[in-house]
Order: sequence, then C-alpha cells, then structure tokens
Amino acid sequence: MNDKPASAERRHRPWVGWVVFASIMVAVFLLGLLFASIMERRHEARLEHVLHPIDPLESDPSKWRVNYPRQYDSFRRTQRTDGETKYGGPAFRDYLEETPENVILFAGMAFSRDYNQARGHAWSRHDTLETDRLAEDSPGTCWTCKSADVPRVMAELGAEHVDDPDAADFHDLIKAGAPHFYGKNFHDLKPEINHPIGCLDCHDPETMALRITRPALIEAFEQRGQDIRDVSHQEMRSLVCAQCHVEYYFRGENDHLVFPWDEGTSVEAMEQQFDRYGFADFTHGISGAPMIKIQHPDYELYKRGIHAYRDVSCADCHMPYRTEGGVKFTDHHIQSPLLNIENSCAVCHRWSEQEIRLRVESIQDNIKEGRDRAERVLARAHFDAAAAKQAGADDQELEEVRALLRAAQVRWDYVAAAKGMGFHAPQEAQRILTAAVELAQEARVEAGRILARRGYIDPVLYPDFDTKEKAQAVVQRFVDGDPPNLLPPRQAAADTE
Ligand code: HEC
Ligand code: HEC
Ligand code: HEC
Ligand code: HEC
Repeated sequence: MNDKPASAERRHRPWVGWVVFASIMVAVFLLGLLFASIMERRHEARLEHVLHPIDPLESDPSKWRVNYPRQYDSFRRTQRTDGETKYGGPAFRDYLEETPENVILFAGMAFSRDYNQARGHAWSRHDTLETDRLAEDSPGTCWTCKSADVPRVMAELGAEHVDDPDAADFHDLIKAGAPHFYGKNFHDLKPEINHPIGCLDCHDPETMALRITRPALIEAFEQRGQDIRDVSHQEMRSLVCAQCHVEYYFRGENDHLVFPWDEGTSVEAMEQQFDRYGFADFTHGISGAPMIKIQHPDYELYKRGIHAYRDVSCADCHMPYRTEGGVKFTDHHIQSPLLNIENSCAVCHRWSEQEIRLRVESIQDNIKEGRDRAERVLARAHFDAAAAKQAGADDQELEEVRALLRAAQVRWDYVAAAKGMGFHAPQEAQRILTAAVELAQEARVEAGRILARRGYIDPVLYPDFDTKEKAQAVVQRFVDGDPPNLLPPRQAAADTE
C-alpha cells in the first residue's frame, strides 16, 4: 500500500545517479590523461637525458660513454699497468726469463722467442701489433680476439654474402662474414682494426643485453647440437669471456677459427680431437715431435672447478659490482681479483682480505710446484729424444717417444697456458700435471732404451739452459742444424746392433 511514494522517489534517483556516474567517468578520464602525460614526460626525459642512439655496429667505446659513463670509465682502467700479484696482475712479466724451460719446450716455434704475461683489455690491439710472434703471412684470424672492430667487420662482410641482409640477424651476418675475415691477410686488415677490446664485443648496443659476437663459440655450440641463445643469463656472464679465453686452432686452408670442443672441453677430449685430425701446431725443434700449442684454456679449466660447479661466473669474480655516488654498477675494470678482493671474493667469503690472499697463493704455490716438476722432466725428455736420434734412431723408432712427448706437453700446457696459476680448478690442474709427469717419464724411459740398445748407458749430456739467453742459444743451434753433442761416451761392453 505504501509503495507509491517510494516508487515516486525512485523515479527521481536515476537522474542523480547518472550525474554522479558521469562525473566519476570524467574524473577517471582526466586522471588517466594526467598519468599518461607524466609517464610520457618521464619516458622522454629518459630518452633525452640518458639514451643517445648508438650505431648498431659502433666499435669505438668512447661513443658509448654518453650513455654509460661509469662502465666506460671503469673499462678505461684496464690501461693500468701497475699492480702485481704473486703470479699475475698487469705488470710486465717475461715468462721465458722466469722459466727458461719454456724456451726449450717451445723450441722451433714463436713462443720460444717471445712469451710475456698478458695485460688489460685496453692493450689488446697495441700488444698484438708489438709481438715478435707475428709473421708476414699471419692470417686475419689472428685479429679475432683482439678488437671490437672484429664483429663490425665480420658483420659488414657478412652483409655482402647473405641473400637478404635486412632479414639476416646479427649471428647470421657474422657467421657469413667470418670465413672472408679469416681468409684475409693480417696486415691487410690492419686499417680496419682501430680499437682494442670494447663494448661491442659483449653487448648489443640497442638493448645492452649480453651478446655473443664470435662465430667460433656459436659454432662450437652448434657442433654439439646446442643453440647458444638458449643459455641462462648467469652462463652468459661467463660465455662472453669464453669467446676469447679458450683454447682454439686454425683449421683448413682458410685458417677457420675452431674451438676443439667436439668431444668436450677436458684436456683428453681436446687431445682426441687433435689426434683425429692429425693436427700439429709445430714440429719440435729438438725432439722432432709433432706438437700442439695450447692457448689460454681459461674457460675450459674454470668449468672443471668448484666455482663453476656452484654457478659462480667469470663476471662474479672479475667484474664485481661497485658503487659510486650511490649508484651500483658492474665494474668493467676487468683484472686480477686479488687486486680487488673486497668487492669480489669477500662478497661471498667472509674471510679477511689477508686470509683470502694467502688461501689463493697457497693453492697457486702447489700448482707451481707441480708445473715446475713437469717442465723439468719434459725439457730433459726432448733432449733424450734428440740424443736417441744422434745415436742413429730413425723416425719410426722415435715415433713412440715423440707421441709420448706430445701427450705429456699438451697436458702440461693446458695448465701452464691457462691464466691464474691453476686457481680456477686446482684439483683438475694437479690431476693433469700428474699425468704430464708420468707421460714425460715414459718418454724418457723409451728414449733410454733406444740409447741403451746402441751402447749409451750413461746420462745424456744435457746442455746448460738455466737462463733465457742460454736456452735460446741452445735452441738456435738445433734450428741451424748444428746441435751440440748430447751423447755420452759409448760403453764398450754394450751389445751393439
Ligand atoms: C672464484 C673467482 C673466479 C672466477 C669465477 C674466475 N676467476 Fe679468473 N682468476 C681468479 C683469481 C683468484 C685469479 C688469480 C689472480 C692472480 O694470480 O693475481 C684469476 C686469474 C685470471 C686471469 C689472469 C689474471 C692475471 O692478472 O694474472 C684471467 C685472464 C682470468 N682469471 C680469466 C677468467 C675467466 C675467463 C673466467 C671464467 C671462465 C674466470 N677467470 C673465472 C678468480 C676467478
Ligand atoms: C668482456 C665483456 C664486456 C665488455 C667488453 C663490456 N661489458 Fe658491459 N657488461 C658485461 C657484463 C658481464 C655485464 C653484467 C651484465 C649482467 O649481468 O646482466 C655488463 C653490464 C653492463 C651494463 C649494465 C649495467 C651494469 O652496470 O651492470 C652496461 C650499461 C654496460 N655493461 C656497458 C658497457 C660499456 C659502455 C662497455 C664499453 C665501454 C662495456 N659494457 C663493455 C660485459 C662486458
Ligand atoms: C674479444 C676477446 C676477449 C674477450 C671477450 C674477453 N677477453 Fe680478456 N683478454 C683478451 C686479450 C686478447 C687479453 C690480453 C690483452 C693484452 O695483453 O694486450 C685479455 C686480458 C684479460 C685479463 C688480464 C690479462 C692477464 O692475463 O693478466 C683478464 C683478467 C681478462 N682478460 C679477463 C676477461 C674476462 C673475465 C672476460 C669476460 C668478462 C674477458 N676477459 C673477455 C681477450 C678477451
Ligand atoms: C658468488 C659467490 C662467490 C664468489 C664471488 C667467490 N666464491 Fe669462492 N666459493 C663459492 C662457493 C659457492 C664455493 C663452494 C663452497 C662449498 O660448496 O662449500 C666456493 C669455494 C671456494 C674455495 C674452496 C675451494 C675448494 O676447493 O674447496 C676457495 C678457496 C674460494 N672459494 C676462494 C675464492 C676466491 C679467492 C674468490 C675471489 C677471487 C672467490 N672464492 C669468489 C662462492 C664464491
């Protein structure tokens, strides 16, 4: 009965309701506009004040500085040459002076003339031009790990050799360009290579994401059926280094750069691949053995250590975070972590700086001891083989000795050429050195048998090679075909052939 007034009231309400609803809609719309304009202004501000466009193939690191001054300025510190650690640091070190056995072990190849400690990335181009190891016919391949101009030139060459350059992505371009890059003469490429290692080596300038720019690493993954673009971000923080800090060789007429990882990255797996291809870097100038020169297998050795096992990357130790004026960023002063213990190791290990340093040095001392032993045995083994030859052994009779020498030296070199004096995987390094010593001793026993069969029982007359100069003089005599006599007086009673 009394629902009439109520319904009359109800008849007036919709009008008010619609007004309230419309006002709210207008307010929401205006707020939205305001929010959008604030966001747009902030976005513009970011573009204007931070991000200047960088050319997709910009190889000059100073052009990246406008956007990333902290990373650039820390990267420039790799120029520093002061700072020495017990076994590393950027200060100059002559490995041949420190270890004259090196001259003997590399007899017949360039490393017996010139073998110095590497230094910071800012020097890569300069030091490549300075080294005595260059030859007139050195291939373009030698530039591959030295300059941020390399990915640029490879991509440019690649654009000339793919069907549709606009459709090709960066990896397609560098893979297509690489064979043409490798095929050029080192000296002819010189005008193109104007910068040391730089931003373009590790970053995509458009997104700043980490990016692989060296086809050899991409191809090594493909060879094992893996796509390098599928790896985790943490792995990328090591793989950007694995573009260069690895063992490699030049295959075929075009000196194609290859990582010998078909069977794996252990020293045995690499040796297997080299043996399969019958590959040799040089014939040993004293023993005549077909040798392999191992080059800085830093990534491979690291992979077999506790830190890789626990997913600690190269960048975690060599590019720790740093704070400047309240801003946290990645320190691009890549160097020995022992020169920056506080920011690198001490983040994870709550030991004192002094303790950390002593821990590392004692690990390195142990490896050094094993290395020294292997070097001493190996040097003698090369002379034993040469003595057997002087006693009249032919290539066939020497084959076993030389094969043992090759196997022993590959192992020694895998540890010796890796940076960090074995720290990256101490147990693995010792395991390999033990094998090297055993194989070198076997070579000596085998050579001793050949000598004994010919009546030479007394020790071989080892020349004096305890300084770099003396060792180089000895090697030179072998190279000149006028080797010193290594044979002791013959035993009359021996049963000669
Ligand atoms: C757990 C920390 C750690 C990790 C991870 C690590 N390193 Fe090292 N690295 C060291 C230490 C410690 C040394 C020894 C430095 C010294 O002797 O002065 C070293 C030495 C080096 C050196 C020689 C530096 C010098 O001044 O002698 C190079 C090159 C290097 N590491 C590269 C790499 C690469 C490449 C990776 C990844 C594949 C890697 N490291 C992973 C700690 C690490
Ligand atoms: C050898 C490889 C390498 C080179 C060369 C390199 N970077 Fe980096 N950069 C890294 C790594 C590794 C990180 C850490 C990335 C991550 O974990 O996401 C990084 C991070 C960065 C970041 C992200 C912000 C930060 O600080 O973490 C910027 C920006 C950057 N680099 C700029 C540069 C610039 C500019 C150059 C040249 C002057 C350069 N990088 C050269 C490896 C490299
Ligand atoms: C494009 C190739 C390339 C890349 C990528 C690269 N390096 Fe290097 N690195 C070199 C070369 C070449 C040298 C030696 C430069 C010289 O001595 O002139 C060197 C030197 C070094 C040194 C100091 C030299 C020493 O042995 O004492 C350290 C430490 C080092 N690199 C670590 C790293 C780490 C860590 C990464 C990854 C974050 C990395 N590098 C990425 C090529 C590269
Ligand atoms: C991101 C973290 C991290 C950083 C950075 C780091 N470590 Fe480690 N470290 C570890 C982990 C994880 C282990 C394994 C410990 C375990 O499993 O008990 C380890 C183990 C070790 C061990 C013992 C090795 C063994 O064989 O038992 C030593 C020594 C060591 N680290 C030294 C260093 C030094 C020196 C640095 C700096 C150059 C460093 N670590 C940087 C995480 C780190």
